[in-house]
Amino acid sequence: MIRSIVSAIIVSMGLLITPCHAETDASPASSTPFRRYLATPKPTKSLVEQWKNQSRGEREAALHLKGNVANGQKVYLESCSNKCHLPHGQGSKNGEYPQIAGQLREVTIKQLADIRARNRDNPTMYRFALPNEIGGVQNIADVAAYIETLPMTLDNGKGPGNDLERGRRIHDHDCVICHGANGEGKAEQYYPLIQGQHYEYLVRQYQWIRDGRRRNAHPMMVEQIQGYTQQDIAAVMDHVSRLVPSQAKLKGSAPPAPPLSTLSPSSPSTAPKDDLL
Ligand code: HEC
Repeated sequence: MIRSIVSAIIVSMGLLITPCHAETDASPASSTPFRRYLATPKPTKSLVEQWKNQSRGEREAALHLKGNVANGQKVYLESCSNKCHLPHGQGSKNGEYPQIAGQLREVTIKQLADIRARNRDNPTMYRFALPNEIGGVQNIADVAAYIETLPMTLDNGKGPGNDLERGRRIHDHDCVICHGANGEGKAEQYYPLIQGQHYEYLVRQYQWIRDGRRRNAHPMMVEQIQGYTQQDIAAVMDHVSRLVPSQAKLKGSAPPAPPLSTLSPSSPSTAPKDDLL
């Protein structure tokens, strides 16, 4: 809690004292993201606390368990990869599916617990995240540990590349405090790794967080986004899609896949595409 208050103070101080990316922006000063952000009401401490308490029971139970990567691989191949995420977990360049390979264990646990607790609207995934599909908290801990070991790809979907300087300025000013200097995320705070993610997915998630469709989003981020134009969003996500993961993330440490015959058969998802998160 102290940490969240301190980071809230740092964020607001940072906005007040650091040179703003918007100051060199081509748009009129009165409509820069920085000014629009300052004009929006800031989230209260209780909103941030509420966010931290979402799906707390299952999340904390899974976090305290040691993830068994071998069982996680089995759960992943049976319940996640053959439905949508594919064995490599690198998603699709058009952003239909995210690159989940390399995602921080803590973040995956929170997202799964949130989806199960219906804090994050994800009609496509809801069914697959339920106990009768994935299993109990131990399986959540295991599958999250396995996903973190999957090697990431650099061949992800990138943005148009025509406004990268604006994207870098917005990112360095508004995002690094939570997602880290290179988009590597912060495990202990559940801030996702966003580096090297597919551009179209990034843009979609961001818009959905802005529009309240992802109810588990961090309230400070939701407030911040309100001041962004579509051009700002495109530019910052283009930049994020080009942040290069570390060698360790690119290499991964996943165990070799077992023979397919050891897995139970299942059918592909028939969910409508526009339901995808
Ligand atoms: C106050 C901290 C904070 C700030 C500032 C912040 N984020 Fe986030 N962001 C989060 C958290 C926490 C989540 C995960 C929310 C959840 O649990 O669903 C998230 C989620 C995301 C996601 C969705 C990731 C996924 O895999 O689905 C994207 C994309 C994202 N942030 C981009 C950004 C960008 C770009 C910026 C800067 C313009 C930014 N965020 C600023 C905390 C922050």
